[in-house]
Amino acid sequence: MKVHPLPNPPPQAGEGDVAWIATCAGPLRGDLFVPGDKSVSHRAIMFAAIAEGSTRIDGFLEGEDTRATAAIFRQLGVRIDAPSDGVRIVHGVGLHGLQPPDGPLDCGNAGTAMRLLAGLLAGQRFDSVLVGDESLSKRPMRRVIEPLAAMGAVIESLEGRAPLRIRGGQALQGIDYTLPVASAQVKSALLLAGLYAQGETHVREPHPTRDYSERMLAALGAPCAFVPGEAAILGGFPLQARDVSVPADFSSAAFFIVAASIVPGSELLLRRVGMNPRRTGLLHVLRAMGADIAEEHPGEQGGEPVADLRVRFAPLRGIEVPVEHVPDMIDEFPALFVAAACADGATVVRGAAELRVKESDRIATMAAGLGALGIVVDEAPDGATIRGGALHGGSVESHGDHRIAMAFAVAAQRASGAVRIGDVANVATSFPGFDTLACGVGMGLAAA
Ligand code: S3P
Repeated sequence: MKVHPLPNPPPQAGEGDVAWIATCAGPLRGDLFVPGDKSVSHRAIMFAAIAEGSTRIDGFLEGEDTRATAAIFRQLGVRIDAPSDGVRIVHGVGLHGLQPPDGPLDCGNAGTAMRLLAGLLAGQRFDSVLVGDESLSKRPMRRVIEPLAAMGAVIESLEGRAPLRIRGGQALQGIDYTLPVASAQVKSALLLAGLYAQGETHVREPHPTRDYSERMLAALGAPCAFVPGEAAILGGFPLQARDVSVPADFSSAAFFIVAASIVPGSELLLRRVGMNPRRTGLLHVLRAMGADIAEEHPGEQGGEPVADLRVRFAPLRGIEVPVEHVPDMIDEFPALFVAAACADGATVVRGAAELRVKESDRIATMAAGLGALGIVVDEAPDGATIRGGALHGGSVESHGDHRIAMAFAVAAQRASGAVRIGDVANVATSFPGFDTLACGVGMGLAAA
């Protein structure tokens, strides 16, 4: 079956203060493409903007987060054309060609934008101010401010939170820094600052995280060396523009992977999904729980591994999630909690304290929402124990967190009654059109 636009597609999240009513509508069937990868789309704009020459980006995620990044670079004097949906042509200005902005740079909800830009802007000759929405303004920024300050950056914050006031004209020095917490955003911020620093910047991670910045920097000709868990860059070398083809976002595919796994009789085919091993921890965990997920037509897109994923319903059983998989599935825990709620027995998550400082406190928001639907979740400071059971209808809040909203739309497909999900507008930050795609494969989802 192919997905065609519905005659009356449900209103898109992002249009005002939207809520959803989600209901179980039977088996899910279909063949679908999810939108482009958010992490790659942010980085493609950033690196293209400071490269020499023009870059065509295909498969660009038309989400609010990635559009915020593009808007910021326009404010910094970069011409970015958008000839069609999912395509951007970025006219790079070189490492030193960005212009002072005319006002604060608004990252919206995007932690990736704010943290990576903090590193990039620390190396400019002009001052800048990074602001964000209410959720982003609560998220911890000391993790980037402190190592950047050690490189010579001057960044003022509100007790470690946005707005970030970045003083330009500083001479940055390379550092050798071991991240206290595994974070691709912090690593990338330091590598971006490292482009402008004297000497070498060396970043070590307690556990390897997604390596898109390193791969792109190396592909654009920067002296950047990396192995899992470690990356180094030598400052002062220009980047040469190179076109980017963005694979489909594994984190968006994750909602459909879990949906097909938990709804009896389902079979979904997800096309050309990005399979970077630093992103696919959920596959290992779901398979250990008994999920039926086949990888077909493995290939490569824009230097990244991709595959079609065929997912069929299978009964799941609870497991202890191996801690080593946590960083490789850090954005997939809302979806995993739903799979765990539908599994036989308990699923134990530990070593995931980072979930408490995402777009919402994802341990607390998932525990509260699943609790409202009849599932017992025991919270721990760094995780939770989810006891599989029968989901009933009810009302849950997403707390403005895109992944929480989508996770509950999926959970509702196994609930005995309707689930009202409040505050879903932020789904548009990472997955515009989720509701239309979800309805197209048979999920029950409508605007409240
Ligand atoms: C991202 C890194 C992760 C992830 C976020 C995107 C990136 O954050 O949760 O959605 O693009 O580098 P942390 O670096 O905070 O783990």
